Amino acid sequence: MILGINIDHIALLREGRKINDPDPLDALSFCHLAGADMITIHLREDRRHIHDDDFKDIIRHSKLPINLECALDEDIVELACEYKPRRVTFVPEKREEVTTEGGLDLDNNFNKIFELSRHLKVNSVDVSLFIDPKTENIDASKSLEVDQVELHTGEYANIDLMLNSNLWHHKNGLEELKANKNALIKKRSNALIQLQNATNRAMDLGINIGAGHGLNYTNIHDVLKIDGIGDFQIGQSIIARSIFVGLKQAVKDMKDIIVNAK
Ligand code: PXP
Repeated sequence: MILGINIDHIALLREGRKINDPDPLDALSFCHLAGADMITIHLREDRRHIHDDDFKDIIRHSKLPINLECALDEDIVELACEYKPRRVTFVPEKREEVTTEGGLDLDNNFNKIFELSRHLKVNSVDVSLFIDPKTENIDASKSLEVDQVELHTGEYANIDLMLNSNLWHHKNGLEELKANKNALIKKRSNALIQLQNATNRAMDLGINIGAGHGLNYTNIHDVLKIDGIGDFQIGQSIIARSIFVGLKQAVKDMKDIIVNAK
C-alpha cells in the first residue's frame, strides 16, 4: 500500500505571501521519516503553486519516489523526460479551478495521451491517468497501455462531507442534507460502488489502481474496504492536520490508518 503525500498545499501557502517560506522542499524529510512512500506535486501550466525550480530541487533531494501531476502539456512532459520522476499522472486542468475538478476526458484526448505516455515510457517514467471511476474509463486506459489509473474520489468525498463534517461551513450541503438525508446516504454508497466496480475492472485488466482527491482521516476508512486499491494520493487533509500536530505526526496518523486497515 502506497501513501503519496501531495505537498502542493505547502507551495500554496508560500504563494499567499510570494516569499520563500514555507518551502515544499523542507517537507521531504518529515514525510520520509513518518513513513510516506511517495511525494506528489502538481506542476500547473500557470505555475501558480509549484514552480519549475521546486520540481527540480524536489527530484534532486527526495529519498522518496516522485509522482508528478500535470496536464497534457508537451513542455512539462519534456521536463519530466529530462528529470525522470518515478511517475507522471495526467490530470485535466482548468485555469479558473481551485483544485482538480474531474477526471480526464479520455475519448477526446486519446491520441495525445497515447503519444505523451509513449514518450514518457521510452524515458522510463511510469504513466498514470486521473479518471472518474467508470468502467469505460478503465477500458480506455487499458487501450492507452498506461501503468496505472488514479480513481477520482472527489464525488464520494463531497457527498461524505455533506453528510458528516463541518456542515455549518457547507451551506449548500446543509440545505441538501436537511431536504433529503436518505438520498445522500444512498448517493454515498453508490459512489463507493462505482469505485469498487472500476477497481474490479482494472484488476481484471491488470492495471494498477490508485485513488485520490478529498480523502481524509475519516472518509478513507470505507475506501480502504475496497479490495484492489494499492495507492492513495492525499494532500489537503494531511497538510491541514499538520498545522496542529506537525507534518510528521499528520503523515504518520494517515499511514497508520492505511497500514492497520489491511
Ligand atoms: N490526486 C490528484 C490527481 C489531485 O489533483 C489531487 C489534488 O491536488 C489529489 C490527489 C489530492 O487531493 P487532496 O488535496 O484533496 O487530498
